[in-house]
Amino acid sequence: LRVAVIVVAAGSGERLGQGQPKAQATLGAEPLLAHALRGVLAARVGQLVCVVVPRGDTELRAVCAGIDPEIITVDGGSTRSDSVGNALAVLPEGMDAVLVHDAARPLTPEEVFHRVRNALDAGAKAVIPALAVVDTIKRAQPAADPGIAPEQVHSTPQREELRAVQTPQGFDLATLRTAHEAATMFDDAQAAAITDDAMLVESRGVSVFLVRGSELSLKITTPTDLLIAEALLEGPAA
Ligand code: C5P
Repeated sequence: LRVAVIVVAAGSGERLGQGQPKAQATLGAEPLLAHALRGVLAARVGQLVCVVVPRGDTELRAVCAGIDPEIITVDGGSTRSDSVGNALAVLPEGMDAVLVHDAARPLTPEEVFHRVRNALDAGAKAVIPALAVVDTIKRAQPAADPGIAPEQVHSTPQREELRAVQTPQGFDLATLRTAHEAATMFDDAQAAAITDDAMLVESRGVSVFLVRGSELSLKITTPTDLLIAEALLEGPAA
């Protein structure tokens, strides 16, 4: 299979609160994007890498060029899904499959990339890494009495059935392209509700296979996540 790896790095980083795009936040001595790209390249799972950067960005483009001048860069969109769509539009001809990875997951181990790639090689049209959840998860709804609390429990899904999903998410390229094209018809609320690529192919009846993710593959969202990642980077586990 000829595989392209898309790394989405066009998020604003608002919840991290550093006043810069999240992929530029420093972990150890380097931006998150540099860590993520080194992981992608070390895993050797694809023929090319395409990084989606914030519109008008020069710093993250420079990070890419510094790591490998062959990395393709493209401007991001207003949602994650738009950003992935922009990358799908610029991939060169001849690719069979794609891995979509978050720049916000700087410590994803090579084995996770390999598990995803192996499932594609075995014929999966869609495959995502996942972990069993440790917390009990509730579905919430607006409270009957908002004077007490804004929300109340709607129901409790069985924990054994739940998985927390990560990236890289792997797809047959034509399958993901078709799903993204259909999603361009979505209104803003529907578009904002697309939080991963697998959702788009699931809703079209494609089997999405699950492989084992990693606790090291945490997504950096808040300042606490960055502290945990710093500790993982320094500690023996990473
Ligand atoms: O916001 P969230 O943490 O879910 O973003 C996940 C990934 O998607 C991040 O790597 C972020 O840079 C990327 N993203 C993007 N374009 C957007 C929003 C998020 O590339 N408009």
